[in-house]
Amino acid sequence: MNLTPKEIVAYLDNYVIAQHSAKRTIALALRTRYRRMQLNSEMQNEVMPKNILMIGSTGVGKTEISRRLAKMMGVPFIKVEASKYTEVGFVGRDVESMIRDLVVNSISIVKAEQEEQNREKINNYVINKIVEKLLPPLPAGASESKKDDYQHLLAVMEKRVESGEMDDKIIELEISKLNVEFDDSGLPPEMAKVQESFSKVFASINKEDNKREVSVKDAKILLRQEASAKLLDINSINAEALRRAENGGIIFLDEIDKIALSEKSNGRNDPSKEGVQRDLLPIVEGSSVATKYGTINTDHILFIAAGAFHVSKPSDLIPELQGRFPLRVELESLTEETLYEILTQTNNSLLKQYQALLAVEGLSLIFEDDAIKAMAKLAHRANELTEDIGARRLHTVLEKVLEEISFNADEHNGEEFRVTATLVHEKLDEVVENDDLSRYIL
Ligand SMILES: Nc1ncnc2c1ncn2[C@@H]1O[C@H](COP(=O)(O)OP(=O)(O)OP(=O)(O)O)[C@@H](O)[C@H]1O
Ligand SMILES: [Mg+2]
Repeated sequence: MNLTPKEIVAYLDNYVIAQHSAKRTIALALRTRYRRMQLNSEMQNEVMPKNILMIGSTGVGKTEISRRLAKMMGVPFIKVEASKYTEVGFVGRDVESMIRDLVVNSISIVKAEQEEQNREKINNYVINKIVEKLLPPLPAGASESKKDDYQHLLAVMEKRVESGEMDDKIIELEISKLNVEFDDSGLPPEMAKVQESFSKVFASINKEDNKREVSVKDAKILLRQEASAKLLDINSINAEALRRAENGGIIFLDEIDKIALSEKSNGRNDPSKEGVQRDLLPIVEGSSVATKYGTINTDHILFIAAGAFHVSKPSDLIPELQGRFPLRVELESLTEETLYEILTQTNNSLLKQYQALLAVEGLSLIFEDDAIKAMAKLAHRANELTEDIGARRLHTVLEKVLEEISFNADEHNGEEFRVTATLVHEKLDEVVENDDLSRYIL
């Protein structure tokens, strides 16, 4: 991951409109990670990441920015909701489990890379195993010419398996249970180990039951897992994954405002909220967390927290936690123009989505520019008159405008449907201006 800040921002621009300072800050933080990795190890240990707090009301792109980042980057990344954690001792997930999740994510990245590098080996393994099942072995002591024939047959069969021609054939496969992966990332390492030894014991007892009849198509998937378990060096994958999570990992802590104690409801709040904040402190500050793959140090993991802070304010977080998020970026509320751009200029904009969906019914949907402007204007107006729900308003607005044609699309196969400003006003004017109506409908 060595994109420059400009490149990162340029990429984000394809999906998120406006919010320039948020995009800049994040891009810079990512680049700093890269710069740090180029230093000697002594300097490296001195450079601490500066965690970021994104503040902005609902629906302005906080989660969207992080989601796009995650897709773009090959670095270990997880997004978690702060509100799902509870203090140690309460029922629920402890905060340390987010670090374990990050390691698991890192492992899957490294593993995918290794699988890609060993693709041919893995492929051969899979094909050979399947061919073995499909062709009876050559009896011992066969003549030379028989052997030649058999070799030829093998080659033909390999081709047929590879091309997918044999996908529907059923074969019998022994599935080694050791490959079965448990979703135990949330468990503390001691528990995970216990669970693992249990599964090993059961696997050895159940050897007989592991034979299954599967189609060649499914066998390819199952054997692929077996192949990567056999051919790849799990230990080095784990070590590399830990290293990457430690130095390049990013944790996006969404809904951080939900664990702040607002003044209004002071005291009557969930007592575990402050506890969660306290539990977060050492992790954000840097501490060692045991995972079943080894111990990971959280010093250099980058934390990006985000919250709407409608009810509470950043200053309602306990001071120690506030101090650990020195970079603050505010996301702007969306204007009419931004809403228009969100509709017209993002890569997977809602308009494109609706067009694609209705194209399935053979209906081609055309949005006139005036109509798009009108929708942006009305969405903005509705945000002003009732709650400001940001770009999410566009969903309800579009849904309302297109509801009828969407419902009757099957009758219009092969036709063209133009969304005009007149249509938009017809569908929406009354709803937007009538406060009661818009609260329910938009
Ligand atoms: N600036 C923007 N540019 C493009 N699309 C946006 C923008 N802001 C929001 N959206 C769209 O609006 C929807 C909601 O945005 P998002 O999930 O980022 O909200 P949020 O800021 O995380 O809000 P919340 O505080 O409620 O979680 C998404 O579908 C997203 O694509
Ligand atoms: Mg969000």
